[in-house]
Amino acid sequence: MSRKIRVAIVGLGFGAEFIPIYQRHPDAEMHAICQRNRQKLDAVGDHFGVQKRYTDYEELLRDPDIDAVHINTPIPDHARQSIMALEAGKHVACTVPMATSVDDCRRIVELTERTGLTYMMMETVVYAREFLFMKELYERGELGRVQFLKASHQQDMDGWPDYWPGLPPMHYATHCVGPVLGLTRAEAASVSCFGSGKIREELHAHYGSSFAVESTHVRFRNSDIAAHVYRSLFDTARQYRESFEVYGSQKSVEWPLIEGRPLVVHTAKRPEPEIPEEVHAPDYAHLLPEPIRLFTTRGVYDLDDNTHLSFTQGAGHGGSHPHLVHEFVDALVQGRKPFPDARQSANITCVGILAHESALRGGETLPLPEFTFSAG
Ligand SMILES: NC(=O)c1ccc[n+]([C@@H]2O[C@H](COP(=O)([O-])OP(=O)(O)OC[C@H]3O[C@@H](n4cnc5c(N)ncnc54)[C@H](O)[C@@H]3O)[C@@H](O)[C@H]2O)c1
Repeated sequence: MSRKIRVAIVGLGFGAEFIPIYQRHPDAEMHAICQRNRQKLDAVGDHFGVQKRYTDYEELLRDPDIDAVHINTPIPDHARQSIMALEAGKHVACTVPMATSVDDCRRIVELTERTGLTYMMMETVVYAREFLFMKELYERGELGRVQFLKASHQQDMDGWPDYWPGLPPMHYATHCVGPVLGLTRAEAASVSCFGSGKIREELHAHYGSSFAVESTHVRFRNSDIAAHVYRSLFDTARQYRESFEVYGSQKSVEWPLIEGRPLVVHTAKRPEPEIPEEVHAPDYAHLLPEPIRLFTTRGVYDLDDNTHLSFTQGAGHGGSHPHLVHEFVDALVQGRKPFPDARQSANITCVGILAHESALRGGETLPLPEFTFSAG
């Protein structure tokens, strides 16, 4: 595409974070916003100066001036709204997870391949500064041979909106599956998962799941590497933490146990006390167009005034938001696939869906479906 990509953002809780980033991206135009509540729609539109506003998603999809939608609505709507957008001829960026069923992942992959449209799952961890630091070490060969990967995502979801209570932990596992697959751009071949513990009785009915923790082993395709990921959402005491660890023959990197502390890098064959080192990951702002670099360290509402709307998350998620926007827009401008594209997003998402299925079957090993593997 030779002109700017005209983007619409749907869902303005977390989604509002991305408005000023698209507004400043040199190849994007922040064309429209959408959410059902008119009052909040207008509050966000007025704050950021976005004139085109929709309360009806279907009406938005009929707008011929929109090239791409960025979906940030609740999890149960992701697949349906992505499918509707692709059928309406729009490129899609969608927050995690891609879907909650293997069939919906398949439909999205098939649609992108039939239409030639782009789909990207906006997984934050694979653009967080900690991940980018580990990826840089991997690409420079400093890790040596990668031997094992491990990731976790623990969060207490009590009090969150009504689609969260009782959600099987692995149904929202992209923050830990994404980095273990993303580091070496691997594909998952199979999964085996154990459920552990029990959430309180009244939460079981929502999704027919009782597990407090789901602990999964992922076998990689065409590789001898395996990874371990685990998740909890209810009735398990733990500070919010997304963690990722890589163990290499030369260097290993571990996420801190407490959020906000530095990473720990272990280097082999040094005197014992010198093996671990604490390291702060840099921001990787230089990978971005100049006008959006500030968003790697600053919250979108810090920009111009003292208006702090209640839904701000600042420059959270490891400064990943501007990287996600740039990856999506740049892929469209260059006519290349983004990371993760539709098949990669399906592979990451289906690990979680099938892991929960495996837990229900006592840990049976389940293969990932063919459509989640890269085409070439
Ligand atoms: N790190 C991350 O990747 C990350 C972080 C936060 C949230 N999220 C994801 O973002 C999504 C939204 O989370 P949130 O906390 O902002 O939720 P929220 O419930 O606060 O906001 C959802 C928004 O979607 C809008 N909406 C719902 N149905 C709609 C429809 N049919 N048409 C148009 N708009 C509709 C609502 O009006 C609201 O603005 C969730 O899927 C969540 O998992 C991801």
